[in-house]
Amino acid sequence: MASTSWDPDILNEALRGTCNDASLCKRYAVNIGYWKDPYIAYFVRQPKERKAPEISRGYYARVQGVGRLLKAFLQKTGCNCQILNLGTGMDTLFWKLKDENLLPRKYFEVDFPSIVTRKIHNIKSKPSLSKPIMESHSGESLLIDAHSLDSSRYAIIGADLRDLPKLEDKLKKCNIDPHLPTLLVTECVLIYMTRQHSASLLRWLAGLFQTAMFINYEQVNMSDHFGQIMIDNLQSRQCNLVGVDDCRTLDTQKEQFLLNGWETANAVDMIKAYNCLPKDDVKGIEALEFLDEKELLEQLMQHYCLCWATKDSGNLGLAEIAL
Ligand SMILES: C[S@@+](CC[C@H](N)C(=O)[O-])C[C@H]1O[C@@H](n2cnc3c(N)ncnc32)[C@H](O)[C@@H]1O
Repeated sequence: MASTSWDPDILNEALRGTCNDASLCKRYAVNIGYWKDPYIAYFVRQPKERKAPEISRGYYARVQGVGRLLKAFLQKTGCNCQILNLGTGMDTLFWKLKDENLLPRKYFEVDFPSIVTRKIHNIKSKPSLSKPIMESHSGESLLIDAHSLDSSRYAIIGADLRDLPKLEDKLKKCNIDPHLPTLLVTECVLIYMTRQHSASLLRWLAGLFQTAMFINYEQVNMSDHFGQIMIDNLQSRQCNLVGVDDCRTLDTQKEQFLLNGWETANAVDMIKAYNCLPKDDVKGIEALEFLDEKELLEQLMQHYCLCWATKDSGNLGLAEIAL
């Protein structure tokens, strides 16, 4: 299995590159019209190369799938909750939720300090990004430095998800509320951490929040030939998928939650998730670009999944949430 003896600086640098890739693919798909996101263009440049329609459809399924689960959680809690997006990269969800009048009480983002510095620089220099933060802010003065920003409804924190004491300290400084229903989101993040680091993170979060849901989007079925090609591909860019063991099957995806303090867990591959999306919407995006051959799309979607886990001391009915 994957070696763990990589130079941590090189590894972290390669990891940070994955956030650029995700945002470039999202921007490309948004430009073509797969979904609306007026904010992504403030974070990444226009991609130079064309992306295959399979990639854009995959991102469509990912954004819609995560969005549906997230909105179900917001509905159950009436937005009286907080969202903690871990390994956020240049994600724009905070701004989209604000436009839809669906902001939780507070929205937190965590990523490596260098990513956060870049994101804060973009926020500070683009009024379309800073204005919604200012508009939603009330009370004391807004705290902002190169590595963190803390307003009353939005906070972004530079931290390593493998260093839990420091992460906890920083979250507390930004007034995370352990008693509020909490939605945790990771999109293609846990696979870059060792099994032990992910397990510690999941267990710590399950202990911290009594009423919570976790949405994890990432690779699955990674033991087969196509999975090996994906691993080799990322390894050639010095991205070592050290957490790949939890991405072997839908069951291993669920187990990582059930073994680490979560009460329920569901997992579906992205073929199933795609088939759950409203038929008219899917028909609309399928008309955007011609796709002659569905085999590659199916293979790609078989190798990503949505897994969601809950614990529900507040009896909000979180276990009922489905795609
Ligand atoms: C593939 S990108 C996904 C970004 C974002 N979730 C999205 O879907 O657009 C993975 C992100 O996880 C972050 N990440 C990975 N390991 C991390 C760690 N140990 N601590 C903090 N951030 C981490 C990376 O910096 C990167 O931004």
